[in-house]
Amino acid sequence: MKEEKIKGKMSVHICNYKRDGENCIEKGSKDLTDRLKKWAKEETDKEIRVFRSGCLGQCSDGIAIACYPQRTFLLNVKESDYKEIRNQLLEELEKIKLG
Ligand code: FES
Repeated sequence: MKEEKIKGKMSVHICNYKRDGENCIEKGSKDLTDRLKKWAKEETDKEIRVFRSGCLGQCSDGIAIACYPQRTFLLNVKESDYKEIRNQLLEELEKIKLG
């Protein structure tokens, strides 16, 4: 086993799960994830890391996003919330940096 420090100050996990019934993929989570991954990599100097995740157990409230270290969910997210999510993540990042 090997232990290594995780890079970045914040990790954002976006559900990209498809199952019968309500699910985040059918609500557009793939495109939203692609856009946020690109933005985070290019604009946050990799301080925010965006990951595709499996089901977060919030299917009826998807698109679901889990944010760490804040340990918060963003729920009922729409693709059109892209700019608002970016702004919120940047605000959270500043709070984390200030301690
Ligand atoms: S399918 Fe996205 S939270 Fe379950």
